[in-house]
Amino acid sequence: TSPDQPTTDPEAGSGAPAQLRSRVWFADPGKTGFIARSHLRAAGLTDEAFDGRPVVGIANSWSELNPCNGHLRDVAAAVRRGVLAAGGLPLEFPTMSLGEPLMRPTTMLYRNLMSIDVEETLRANPVDAVVLLGGCDKTTPAQLMGAASVDLPTLMVTGGPMVSGSFRGEPIGSGTDLWRFSEDVRSGQMSSTDFTEAESCIHRSAGHCMTMGTASTMACLTEALGIQMSGGAAFQAVDSGRRQLAERSGRRAVHMAGHGPRPSAVLTRQAFENAARANAAIGGSTNAVLHLLALAGRVGVDLTLDDLDRLGRDVPLLVDLKPSGTYLMAEFEQAGGMPALLHELLPLLHADAITVDGPTLGDAVRHAERYWPEVIRGLDEPVLPSDTGTAVLRGNLCPDGAVIKQSAAEPRLLKHRGRALVFDDVESYLRAAEDPALDVDADSVLIVRNCGPRGYPGMPEIGNLPIPVRLLESGVTDMVRISDARMSGTSYGTVILHAAPEAAAGGPLALVRNGDMVALDVSSRRLDVEIDDAELERRRAEWSQPPPSQDRGWAKLYVDHVLQADQGADLDFLVGSSGDAVPRVPF
Ligand code: FES
Ligand code: MG
Repeated sequence: TSPDQPTTDPEAGSGAPAQLRSRVWFADPGKTGFIARSHLRAAGLTDEAFDGRPVVGIANSWSELNPCNGHLRDVAAAVRRGVLAAGGLPLEFPTMSLGEPLMRPTTMLYRNLMSIDVEETLRANPVDAVVLLGGCDKTTPAQLMGAASVDLPTLMVTGGPMVSGSFRGEPIGSGTDLWRFSEDVRSGQMSSTDFTEAESCIHRSAGHCMTMGTASTMACLTEALGIQMSGGAAFQAVDSGRRQLAERSGRRAVHMAGHGPRPSAVLTRQAFENAARANAAIGGSTNAVLHLLALAGRVGVDLTLDDLDRLGRDVPLLVDLKPSGTYLMAEFEQAGGMPALLHELLPLLHADAITVDGPTLGDAVRHAERYWPEVIRGLDEPVLPSDTGTAVLRGNLCPDGAVIKQSAAEPRLLKHRGRALVFDDVESYLRAAEDPALDVDADSVLIVRNCGPRGYPGMPEIGNLPIPVRLLESGVTDMVRISDARMSGTSYGTVILHAAPEAAAGGPLALVRNGDMVALDVSSRRLDVEIDDAELERRRAEWSQPPPSQDRGWAKLYVDHVLQADQGADLDFLVGSSGDAVPRVPF
Protein backbone atom coordinates (compact mmCIF):
# COMPACT_ATOMS: atom_id res chain seq x y z
CA THR A 1 0.00 0.00 0.00
CA SER A 2 1.26 3.46 -0.74
CA PRO A 3 1.59 5.57 2.38
CA ASP A 4 -0.99 7.95 0.99
CA GLN A 5 -3.82 5.49 0.45
CA PRO A 6 -6.42 4.78 3.10
CA THR A 7 -6.31 1.19 4.22
CA THR A 8 -8.90 -1.28 3.14
CA ASP A 9 -10.31 -4.16 5.09
CA PRO A 10 -11.15 -7.14 2.84
CA GLU A 11 -13.73 -8.31 5.40
CA ALA A 12 -15.65 -5.06 5.21
CA GLY A 13 -15.89 -4.66 1.45
CA SER A 14 -14.11 -2.23 -0.79
CA GLY A 15 -12.94 1.10 0.55
CA ALA A 16 -13.73 0.49 4.18
CA PRO A 17 -10.78 1.12 6.48
CA ALA A 18 -9.68 -1.66 8.78
CA GLN A 19 -10.50 -1.71 12.47
CA LEU A 20 -11.01 2.01 12.83
CA ARG A 21 -12.41 2.97 16.19
CA SER A 22 -14.12 6.01 14.68
CA ARG A 23 -16.55 3.55 13.03
CA VAL A 24 -18.03 2.87 16.46
CA TRP A 25 -19.24 6.46 16.39
CA PHE A 26 -19.98 7.03 12.72
CA ALA A 27 -21.13 3.68 11.33
CA ASP A 28 -23.93 3.31 13.85
CA PRO A 29 -27.27 3.77 12.02
CA GLY A 30 -29.19 4.53 15.22
CA LYS A 31 -29.50 7.34 17.69
CA THR A 32 -25.89 7.48 18.86
CA GLY A 33 -24.56 7.58 15.31
CA PHE A 34 -27.16 10.21 14.48
CA ILE A 35 -25.92 12.43 17.31
CA ALA A 36 -22.26 12.07 16.32
CA ARG A 37 -22.86 12.71 12.62
CA SER A 38 -25.49 15.36 13.05
CA HIS A 39 -23.36 17.59 15.23
CA LEU A 40 -20.43 17.32 12.84
CA ARG A 41 -22.78 18.16 9.97
CA ALA A 42 -23.54 21.24 12.03
CA ALA A 43 -19.88 22.12 11.60
CA GLY A 44 -20.31 21.83 7.83
CA LEU A 45 -19.17 18.27 7.24
CA THR A 46 -20.93 16.18 4.61
CA ASP A 47 -21.59 12.48 3.93
CA GLU A 48 -18.02 11.91 2.82
CA ALA A 49 -16.79 12.55 6.35
CA PHE A 50 -18.59 9.42 7.52
CA ASP A 51 -17.76 7.05 4.69
CA GLY A 52 -15.16 5.14 6.64
CA ARG A 53 -12.15 7.35 6.12
CA PRO A 54 -9.65 7.47 8.97
CA VAL A 55 -10.06 10.30 11.44
CA VAL A 56 -6.77 11.97 12.20
CA GLY A 57 -6.76 14.11 15.32
CA ILE A 58 -4.49 17.13 15.31
CA ALA A 59 -3.59 17.84 18.93
CA ASN A 60 -2.66 21.49 18.95
CA SER A 61 -0.96 23.25 21.85
CA TRP A 62 -1.20 26.66 20.16
CA SER A 63 -1.76 29.40 22.70
CA GLU A 64 -1.16 33.11 23.00
CA LEU A 65 -0.01 32.32 26.52
CA ASN A 66 2.79 30.27 24.96
CA PRO A 67 4.54 32.31 22.24
CA CYS A 68 6.90 29.41 21.53
CA ASN A 69 3.89 27.54 20.14
CA GLY A 70 2.27 30.65 18.64
CA HIS A 71 2.59 29.46 15.03
CA LEU A 72 1.11 26.00 15.48
CA ARG A 73 -2.26 26.85 13.91
CA ASP A 74 -0.33 27.48 10.73
CA VAL A 75 1.49 24.16 11.11
CA ALA A 76 -1.85 22.48 11.82
CA ALA A 77 -3.17 23.82 8.50
CA ALA A 78 -0.34 21.99 6.74
CA VAL A 79 -1.09 18.76 8.60
CA ARG A 80 -4.74 19.16 7.63
CA ARG A 81 -3.81 19.49 3.93
CA GLY A 82 -1.87 16.26 4.15
CA VAL A 83 -4.69 14.38 5.86
CA LEU A 84 -7.24 15.58 3.30
CA ALA A 85 -4.96 14.79 0.36
CA ALA A 86 -4.55 11.23 1.62
CA GLY A 87 -8.27 10.73 2.05
CA GLY A 88 -8.56 11.14 5.81
CA LEU A 89 -10.72 13.37 7.95
CA PRO A 90 -8.67 15.86 10.01
CA LEU A 91 -10.20 17.04 13.29
CA GLU A 92 -8.07 19.57 15.14
CA PHE A 93 -8.47 20.11 18.85
CA PRO A 94 -6.75 22.24 21.48
CA THR A 95 -4.70 20.81 24.27
CA MET A 96 -3.44 22.52 27.35
CA SER A 97 -0.31 24.52 26.57
CA LEU A 98 2.64 25.07 28.87
CA GLY A 99 4.68 28.18 28.15
CA GLU A 100 7.96 28.46 30.03
CA PRO A 101 8.14 32.27 29.89
CA LEU A 102 4.85 32.98 31.63
CA MET A 103 3.65 30.06 33.73
CA ARG A 104 4.19 30.03 37.47
CA PRO A 105 5.35 28.46 39.66
CA THR A 106 6.82 26.21 36.94
CA THR A 107 5.54 24.39 33.87
CA MET A 108 6.81 21.12 35.32
CA LEU A 109 3.96 21.26 37.84
CA TYR A 110 1.63 20.90 34.85
CA ARG A 111 3.41 18.48 32.49
CA ASN A 112 1.51 15.51 33.86
CA LEU A 113 -1.77 17.44 33.82
CA MET A 114 -1.28 18.26 30.14
CA SER A 115 -0.55 14.60 29.49
CA ILE A 116 -3.87 13.72 31.12
CA ASP A 117 -5.66 16.23 28.87
CA VAL A 118 -4.12 14.66 25.76
CA GLU A 119 -4.72 11.09 26.91
CA GLU A 120 -8.34 11.52 27.91
CA THR A 121 -9.27 13.65 24.89
CA LEU A 122 -7.89 11.03 22.52
CA ARG A 123 -9.57 8.09 24.21
CA ALA A 124 -12.94 9.79 24.58
CA ASN A 125 -13.27 10.82 20.95
CA PRO A 126 -13.56 9.21 17.49
CA VAL A 127 -9.86 9.48 16.67
CA ASP A 128 -7.97 6.78 14.73
CA ALA A 129 -4.52 8.37 14.64
CA VAL A 130 -3.07 11.57 15.99
CA VAL A 131 -0.55 14.21 15.00
CA LEU A 132 0.82 15.99 18.06
CA LEU A 133 1.86 19.63 17.72
CA GLY A 134 4.11 20.84 20.52
CA GLY A 135 7.31 22.79 20.92
CA CYS A 136 7.97 24.65 24.16
CA ASP A 137 9.81 22.49 26.67
CA LYS A 138 7.09 20.51 28.44
CA THR A 139 4.56 20.43 25.61
CA THR A 140 6.45 17.77 23.65
CA PRO A 141 6.91 15.24 26.48
CA ALA A 142 3.41 15.92 27.86
CA GLN A 143 1.81 15.16 24.49
CA LEU A 144 3.94 12.08 23.97
CA MET A 145 3.19 10.75 27.45
CA GLY A 146 -0.55 11.22 26.98
CA ALA A 147 -0.62 9.70 23.50
CA ALA A 148 1.60 6.79 24.58
CA SER A 149 -0.91 5.86 27.29
CA VAL A 150 -3.65 5.58 24.64
CA ASP A 151 -1.44 3.93 22.03
CA LEU A 152 -3.22 5.15 18.93
CA PRO A 153 -0.91 5.54 15.92
CA THR A 154 0.92 8.76 16.73
CA LEU A 155 3.27 11.17 14.97
CA MET A 156 4.87 14.17 16.61
CA VAL A 157 5.48 17.36 14.68
CA THR A 158 7.48 19.77 16.81
CA GLY A 159 7.16 23.50 16.20
CA GLY A 160 10.78 24.18 15.38
CA PRO A 161 13.22 26.73 16.73
CA MET A 162 12.62 30.46 16.51
CA VAL A 163 14.75 32.69 14.26
CA SER A 164 18.27 33.13 15.65
CA GLY A 165 18.96 36.07 17.92
CA SER A 166 21.51 38.77 17.18
CA PHE A 167 22.70 41.64 19.38
CA ARG A 168 25.06 44.28 17.99
CA GLY A 169 26.51 41.88 15.46
CA GLU A 170 26.86 38.99 17.88
CA PRO A 171 24.72 35.86 17.57
CA ILE A 172 22.82 35.29 20.80
CA GLY A 173 20.80 32.31 21.90
CA SER A 174 17.70 32.01 24.02
CA GLY A 175 18.34 31.31 27.66
CA THR A 176 22.09 30.86 27.42
CA ASP A 177 22.92 34.48 26.57
CA LEU A 178 20.21 35.81 28.83
CA TRP A 179 21.83 34.05 31.80
CA ARG A 180 25.17 35.52 30.73
CA PHE A 181 23.78 39.06 30.29
CA SER A 182 22.03 38.86 33.62
CA GLU A 183 25.27 37.95 35.39
CA ASP A 184 27.07 40.72 33.44
CA VAL A 185 24.57 43.26 34.77
CA ARG A 186 25.10 41.99 38.32
CA SER A 187 28.87 42.23 37.97
CA GLY A 188 28.68 45.67 36.37
CA GLN A 189 29.93 44.59 32.93
CA MET A 190 26.65 45.38 31.15
CA SER A 191 24.39 48.40 31.58
CA SER A 192 20.72 47.94 32.33
CA THR A 193 19.94 49.96 29.18
CA ASP A 194 21.83 47.47 27.04
CA PHE A 195 20.15 44.63 28.90
CA THR A 196 16.74 46.04 28.01
CA GLU A 197 17.78 46.55 24.38
CA ALA A 198 18.71 42.86 24.18
CA GLU A 199 15.11 41.98 25.05
CA SER A 200 14.03 42.78 21.50
CA CYS A 201 17.06 41.16 19.88
CA ILE A 202 17.11 37.67 21.28
CA HIS A 203 13.71 36.15 20.43
CA ARG A 204 12.86 37.01 16.83
CA SER A 205 9.84 34.89 15.95
CA ALA A 206 7.44 32.28 17.17
CA GLY A 207 9.08 28.93 17.78
CA HIS A 208 10.92 27.30 20.64
CA CYS A 209 14.28 28.31 22.07
CA MET A 210 16.95 27.96 19.37
CA THR A 211 19.77 26.85 21.60
CA MET A 212 20.10 23.16 22.51
CA GLY A 213 17.82 23.76 25.49
CA THR A 214 15.08 21.44 26.59
CA ALA A 215 12.74 22.18 23.69
CA SER A 216 15.36 21.57 20.98
CA THR A 217 16.60 18.56 22.91
CA MET A 218 13.15 16.99 23.11
CA ALA A 219 12.50 17.78 19.45
CA CYS A 220 15.77 16.07 18.48
CA LEU A 221 14.99 13.10 20.70
CA THR A 222 11.61 12.60 19.02
CA GLU A 223 13.58 11.80 15.87
CA ALA A 224 15.92 9.50 17.76
CA LEU A 225 12.89 7.80 19.30
CA GLY A 226 11.37 7.44 15.83
CA ILE A 227 8.12 9.19 16.73
CA GLN A 228 8.72 12.27 14.53
CA MET A 229 9.45 12.03 10.80
CA SER A 230 13.10 12.24 9.94
CA GLY A 231 14.32 15.84 9.71
CA GLY A 232 11.44 17.30 11.68
CA ALA A 233 13.34 18.66 14.66
CA ALA A 234 15.55 21.34 13.18
CA PHE A 235 13.58 23.29 10.57
CA GLN A 236 13.00 26.75 11.98
CA ALA A 237 9.46 27.58 13.03
CA VAL A 238 9.07 29.91 10.05
CA ASP A 239 10.64 27.53 7.50
CA SER A 240 8.59 26.20 4.58
CA GLY A 241 10.39 22.90 5.20
CA ARG A 242 8.44 22.60 8.43
CA ARG A 243 5.12 23.05 6.60
CA GLN A 244 6.14 20.45 4.05
CA LEU A 245 7.11 18.03 6.78
CA ALA A 246 3.82 18.73 8.57
CA GLU A 247 1.88 18.03 5.37
CA ARG A 248 3.77 14.76 4.86
CA SER A 249 3.08 13.86 8.47
CA GLY A 250 -0.65 14.36 7.89
CA ARG A 251 -0.54 12.05 4.88
CA ARG A 252 1.46 9.53 6.81
CA ALA A 253 -0.97 9.62 9.74
CA VAL A 254 -3.80 8.52 7.42
CA HIS A 255 -1.79 5.47 6.48
CA MET A 256 -0.79 4.81 10.08
CA ALA A 257 -4.42 4.90 11.22
CA GLY A 258 -4.93 1.50 9.63
CA HIS A 259 -1.42 0.11 9.59
CA GLY A 260 0.42 1.55 12.55
CA PRO A 261 2.97 1.63 13.92
CA ARG A 262 1.54 2.45 17.32
CA PRO A 263 3.68 4.09 20.02
CA SER A 264 4.06 0.70 21.70
CA ALA A 265 5.89 -0.52 18.57
CA VAL A 266 7.97 2.66 18.21
CA LEU A 267 8.80 3.56 21.80
CA THR A 268 10.66 0.37 22.60
CA ARG A 269 13.67 -0.27 24.77
CA GLN A 270 15.78 0.12 21.61
CA ALA A 271 14.26 3.51 20.87
CA PHE A 272 15.01 4.79 24.37
CA GLU A 273 18.57 3.52 24.12
CA ASN A 274 18.91 5.39 20.83
CA ALA A 275 17.51 8.53 22.45
CA ALA A 276 19.91 8.26 25.40
CA ARG A 277 22.87 8.05 23.04
CA ALA A 278 21.58 10.86 20.86
CA ASN A 279 21.09 13.04 23.94
CA ALA A 280 24.76 12.68 24.81
CA ALA A 281 25.83 13.45 21.23
CA ILE A 282 23.75 16.63 20.99
CA GLY A 283 24.72 17.90 24.47
CA GLY A 284 21.06 17.69 25.41
CA SER A 285 19.25 19.08 28.39
CA THR A 286 19.24 17.45 31.81
CA ASN A 287 15.46 17.73 31.65
CA ALA A 288 15.48 15.04 28.96
CA VAL A 289 16.38 12.56 31.69
CA LEU A 290 13.10 13.23 33.48
CA HIS A 291 11.02 13.18 30.31
CA LEU A 292 12.56 9.98 28.93
CA LEU A 293 12.04 8.18 32.25
CA ALA A 294 8.43 9.34 32.47
CA LEU A 295 7.70 8.41 28.84
CA ALA A 296 9.31 5.00 29.28
CA GLY A 297 7.05 4.45 32.27
CA ARG A 298 3.98 5.04 30.09
CA VAL A 299 4.96 2.33 27.61
CA GLY A 300 6.25 -0.18 30.13
CA VAL A 301 9.93 0.09 29.20
CA ASP A 302 12.08 -0.51 32.24
CA LEU A 303 14.49 2.41 31.82
CA THR A 304 16.59 3.60 34.76
CA LEU A 305 18.86 6.49 35.59
CA ASP A 306 21.79 4.10 35.51
CA ASP A 307 20.85 2.99 31.99
CA LEU A 308 20.94 6.61 30.87
CA ASP A 309 24.35 7.15 32.46
CA ARG A 310 25.77 3.98 30.95
CA LEU A 311 24.37 4.60 27.47
CA GLY A 312 25.57 8.20 27.34
CA ARG A 313 28.98 7.60 28.84
CA ASP A 314 30.83 6.39 25.74
CA VAL A 315 29.26 8.90 23.37
CA PRO A 316 31.24 12.04 22.50
CA LEU A 317 29.66 15.47 22.06
CA LEU A 318 29.20 15.86 18.30
CA VAL A 319 26.97 18.91 18.03
CA ASP A 320 28.54 22.33 18.59
CA LEU A 321 25.51 24.26 19.84
CA LYS A 322 24.98 26.60 22.75
CA PRO A 323 24.92 26.13 25.72
CA SER A 324 27.76 23.57 25.43
CA GLY A 325 29.21 25.08 22.23
CA THR A 326 28.92 27.85 19.69
CA TYR A 327 26.12 27.61 17.13
CA LEU A 328 22.32 27.72 17.10
CA MET A 329 19.60 25.45 15.72
CA ALA A 330 19.55 27.25 12.35
CA GLU A 331 23.12 26.13 11.71
CA PHE A 332 22.28 22.64 12.97
CA GLU A 333 19.52 22.45 10.35
CA GLN A 334 21.86 23.67 7.60
CA ALA A 335 24.41 21.09 8.71
CA GLY A 336 21.92 18.30 8.08
CA GLY A 337 20.02 18.22 11.37
CA MET A 338 19.16 15.04 13.21
CA PRO A 339 19.30 12.75 10.15
CA ALA A 340 22.96 13.70 9.69
CA LEU A 341 23.70 13.33 13.41
CA LEU A 342 21.93 9.97 13.65
CA HIS A 343 23.70 8.80 10.51
CA GLU A 344 27.04 9.59 12.16
CA LEU A 345 25.93 7.84 15.35
CA LEU A 346 24.56 4.74 13.59
CA PRO A 347 27.40 2.48 14.74
CA LEU A 348 26.22 3.16 18.30
CA LEU A 349 22.48 2.89 17.61
CA HIS A 350 19.89 0.18 17.10
CA ALA A 351 19.42 0.76 13.37
CA ASP A 352 16.49 -1.64 13.24
CA ALA A 353 14.30 0.38 15.63
CA ILE A 354 10.86 1.00 14.10
CA THR A 355 10.04 4.61 13.21
CA VAL A 356 7.01 6.49 11.95
CA ASP A 357 8.92 7.01 8.71
CA GLY A 358 8.75 3.26 8.27
CA PRO A 359 10.32 0.89 8.50
CA THR A 360 13.48 1.54 10.52
CA LEU A 361 15.73 4.28 11.86
CA GLY A 362 18.58 2.94 9.78
CA ASP A 363 16.48 3.27 6.62
CA ALA A 364 15.50 6.81 7.55
CA VAL A 365 19.02 8.16 8.02
CA ARG A 366 21.25 5.85 5.99
CA HIS A 367 21.71 8.39 3.19
CA ALA A 368 21.85 11.51 5.33
CA GLU A 369 24.95 13.66 5.03
CA ARG A 370 26.75 16.17 7.20
CA TYR A 371 26.98 19.43 5.27
CA TRP A 372 28.75 21.55 7.89
CA PRO A 373 31.33 19.46 9.71
CA GLU A 374 32.11 22.16 12.31
CA VAL A 375 28.52 22.12 13.52
CA ILE A 376 27.89 18.37 13.38
CA ARG A 377 31.17 16.63 14.00
CA GLY A 378 32.30 13.15 13.09
CA LEU A 379 32.90 10.52 15.75
CA ASP A 380 36.63 10.91 15.13
CA GLU A 381 36.63 14.71 15.61
CA PRO A 382 34.13 15.46 18.38
CA VAL A 383 33.53 18.78 20.12
CA LEU A 384 34.28 17.02 23.41
CA PRO A 385 35.37 13.44 24.05
CA SER A 386 33.05 10.80 25.45
CA ASP A 387 31.81 10.97 29.02
CA THR A 388 31.16 14.70 28.97
CA GLY A 389 27.36 14.55 28.89
CA THR A 390 24.86 14.14 31.68
CA ALA A 391 26.24 11.93 34.45
CA VAL A 392 24.27 10.26 37.23
CA LEU A 393 25.73 10.63 40.71
CA ARG A 394 25.11 8.56 43.83
CA GLY A 395 26.19 8.96 47.41
CA ASN A 396 24.85 9.72 50.84
CA LEU A 397 23.50 13.06 49.61
CA CYS A 398 21.51 11.46 46.79
CA PRO A 399 20.99 7.72 47.35
CA ASP A 400 18.44 7.58 44.52
CA GLY A 401 20.56 9.65 42.18
CA ALA A 402 21.27 13.16 40.98
CA VAL A 403 22.43 14.47 37.62
CA ILE A 404 25.08 16.86 36.35
CA LYS A 405 25.70 18.05 32.81
CA GLN A 406 29.45 17.78 32.59
CA SER A 407 29.87 19.78 29.40
CA ALA A 408 28.21 22.76 31.11
CA ALA A 409 30.63 22.73 34.07
CA GLU A 410 34.11 24.14 34.57
CA PRO A 411 36.21 20.96 34.38
CA ARG A 412 38.28 21.83 37.49
CA LEU A 413 35.11 21.66 39.62
CA LEU A 414 34.11 18.15 38.56
CA LYS A 415 36.23 16.89 41.44
CA HIS A 416 35.78 19.18 44.40
CA ARG A 417 35.50 19.40 48.20
CA GLY A 418 33.96 22.37 49.89
CA ARG A 419 31.91 23.57 52.83
CA ALA A 420 28.16 23.50 52.46
CA LEU A 421 26.23 26.75 52.54
CA VAL A 422 22.62 25.65 52.88
CA PHE A 423 19.34 27.41 52.18
CA ASP A 424 15.87 26.06 52.92
CA ASP A 425 14.26 27.88 50.02
CA VAL A 426 15.39 29.59 46.88
CA GLU A 427 14.06 33.01 47.85
CA SER A 428 16.32 33.19 50.89
CA TYR A 429 19.28 32.19 48.73
CA LEU A 430 18.50 34.85 46.13
CA ARG A 431 18.42 37.51 48.87
CA ALA A 432 21.67 36.24 50.38
CA ALA A 433 23.37 36.13 46.98
CA GLU A 434 23.05 39.93 46.74
CA ASP A 435 24.55 40.46 50.21
CA PRO A 436 28.17 41.68 49.88
CA ALA A 437 28.89 40.38 53.40
CA LEU A 438 27.69 36.81 52.74
CA ASP A 439 30.07 34.30 54.35
CA VAL A 440 30.99 32.41 51.20
CA ASP A 441 34.10 31.69 49.17
CA ALA A 442 34.76 30.25 45.74
CA ASP A 443 35.14 26.73 47.19
CA SER A 444 31.83 26.81 49.02
CA VAL A 445 29.18 24.35 47.90
CA LEU A 446 25.83 26.09 47.56
CA ILE A 447 22.82 23.96 48.50
CA VAL A 448 19.20 24.95 48.04
CA ARG A 449 16.59 22.43 49.11
CA ASN A 450 12.83 22.00 49.18
CA CYS A 451 12.70 22.63 45.44
CA GLY A 452 11.88 19.10 44.33
CA PRO A 453 8.69 17.74 42.79
CA ARG A 454 6.79 17.75 46.11
CA GLY A 455 8.64 20.46 47.94
CA TYR A 456 8.24 23.48 45.69
CA PRO A 457 5.97 21.94 44.29
CA GLY A 458 6.78 21.11 40.66
CA MET A 459 10.57 21.05 40.62
CA PRO A 460 11.33 24.49 39.16
CA GLU A 461 14.36 25.46 37.08
CA ILE A 462 16.31 27.20 39.82
CA GLY A 463 19.28 24.83 40.07
CA ASN A 464 21.68 27.14 38.21
CA LEU A 465 21.79 29.51 41.18
CA PRO A 466 23.32 32.89 40.44
CA ILE A 467 26.83 33.29 41.83
CA PRO A 468 26.91 35.37 45.06
CA VAL A 469 27.56 38.97 44.04
CA ARG A 470 30.58 39.18 46.32
CA LEU A 471 32.29 36.40 44.35
CA LEU A 472 31.01 37.53 40.99
CA GLU A 473 32.75 40.88 41.49
CA SER A 474 36.02 39.09 42.11
CA GLY A 475 35.69 37.17 38.87
CA VAL A 476 34.20 33.86 40.04
CA THR A 477 31.98 32.47 37.29
CA ASP A 478 31.27 28.93 38.44
CA MET A 479 30.73 27.13 41.74
CA VAL A 480 29.38 23.76 42.80
CA ARG A 481 25.66 24.09 43.32
CA ILE A 482 23.36 21.31 44.54
CA SER A 483 19.59 21.09 44.67
CA ASP A 484 16.59 18.85 44.25
CA ALA A 485 15.43 21.25 41.52
CA ARG A 486 15.97 21.30 37.75
CA MET A 487 17.74 23.81 35.56
CA SER A 488 16.93 25.22 32.16
CA GLY A 489 18.45 23.21 29.35
CA THR A 490 19.98 26.46 28.12
CA SER A 491 22.02 27.09 31.23
CA TYR A 492 25.51 26.15 32.37
CA GLY A 493 27.68 25.72 35.44
CA THR A 494 28.75 22.98 37.84
CA VAL A 495 25.18 22.32 38.81
CA ILE A 496 23.96 19.13 40.45
CA LEU A 497 20.25 18.61 39.99
CA HIS A 498 17.35 16.25 40.66
CA ALA A 499 18.81 14.99 43.99
CA ALA A 500 16.59 12.12 45.05
CA PRO A 501 14.88 11.56 47.33
CA GLU A 502 14.17 15.29 47.54
CA ALA A 503 14.40 17.14 50.86
CA ALA A 504 10.61 17.40 51.24
CA ALA A 505 10.39 13.62 50.96
CA GLY A 506 12.97 13.19 53.73
CA GLY A 507 15.98 12.80 51.47
CA PRO A 508 19.41 13.48 52.97
CA LEU A 509 19.53 16.91 51.36
CA ALA A 510 17.19 17.85 54.23
CA LEU A 511 19.86 16.83 56.76
CA VAL A 512 22.96 18.64 55.54
CA ARG A 513 24.03 21.70 57.57
CA ASN A 514 26.17 24.79 57.06
CA GLY A 515 29.83 23.91 57.28
CA ASP A 516 29.49 20.19 56.47
CA MET A 517 32.14 19.11 53.99
CA VAL A 518 30.68 18.00 50.67
CA ALA A 519 32.72 15.90 48.24
CA LEU A 520 31.96 15.68 44.53
CA ASP A 521 33.77 13.32 42.20
CA VAL A 522 32.00 13.09 38.89
CA SER A 523 34.40 10.61 37.29
CA SER A 524 33.58 8.10 40.04
CA ARG A 525 29.93 9.27 40.04
CA ARG A 526 29.96 10.21 43.75
CA LEU A 527 28.33 12.97 45.75
CA ASP A 528 28.70 12.70 49.51
CA VAL A 529 28.51 14.76 52.64
CA GLU A 530 31.39 13.81 54.90
CA ILE A 531 29.44 12.88 57.99
CA ASP A 532 28.99 9.37 59.29
CA ASP A 533 25.83 7.33 59.16
CA ALA A 534 25.21 7.64 62.88
CA GLU A 535 25.24 11.43 62.68
CA LEU A 536 22.98 11.34 59.61
CA GLU A 537 20.56 9.12 61.55
CA ARG A 538 20.65 11.49 64.54
CA ARG A 539 19.75 14.36 62.27
CA ARG A 540 17.08 12.31 60.57
CA ALA A 541 15.46 11.62 63.95
CA GLU A 542 15.31 15.38 64.56
CA TRP A 543 13.84 16.09 61.13
CA SER A 544 10.13 16.34 60.74
CA GLN A 545 8.09 16.26 57.57
CA PRO A 546 7.00 19.78 56.66
CA PRO A 547 3.23 20.19 56.39
CA PRO A 548 1.92 19.74 52.84
CA SER A 549 2.15 23.02 50.98
CA GLN A 550 -1.05 22.48 49.01
CA ASP A 551 -4.45 21.47 50.28
CA ARG A 552 -6.71 21.51 47.24
CA GLY A 553 -6.96 21.30 43.50
CA TRP A 554 -4.43 20.08 41.00
CA ALA A 555 -1.44 20.99 43.16
CA LYS A 556 -2.72 18.75 45.97
CA LEU A 557 -3.30 15.84 43.62
CA TYR A 558 0.19 16.42 42.22
CA VAL A 559 1.93 16.61 45.60
CA ASP A 560 0.09 13.53 46.86
CA HIS A 561 1.03 11.40 43.86
CA VAL A 562 4.18 12.71 42.19
CA LEU A 563 7.06 10.25 41.89
CA GLN A 564 10.63 11.26 42.60
CA ALA A 565 13.01 12.52 39.93
CA ASP A 566 14.65 9.13 39.42
CA GLN A 567 11.26 7.87 38.19
CA GLY A 568 10.66 10.85 35.92
CA ALA A 569 8.36 12.78 38.26
CA ASP A 570 5.24 11.30 36.70
CA LEU A 571 2.21 10.72 38.89
CA ASP A 572 2.11 7.22 40.38
CA PHE A 573 -1.32 6.45 38.92
CA LEU A 574 -0.38 7.61 35.41
CA VAL A 575 2.41 5.09 34.93
CA GLY A 576 1.40 2.61 32.23
CA SER A 577 -1.24 2.66 29.56
CA SER A 578 -5.03 2.30 29.48
CA GLY A 579 -5.21 1.76 25.72
CA ASP A 580 -7.65 3.01 23.12
CA ALA A 581 -10.75 0.94 23.87
CA VAL A 582 -13.89 2.92 23.05
CA PRO A 583 -15.61 3.98 26.28
CA ARG A 584 -19.26 3.07 26.92
CA VAL A 585 -22.04 5.48 26.05
CA PRO A 586 -25.41 5.71 27.86
CA PHE A 587 -27.67 6.52 24.92
FE1 FES B 1 9.49 27.99 25.21
FE2 FES B 1 12.23 28.00 25.56
S1 FES B 1 10.71 29.24 26.48
S2 FES B 1 11.00 26.75 24.34
MG1 MG C 1 13.77 25.86 28.90
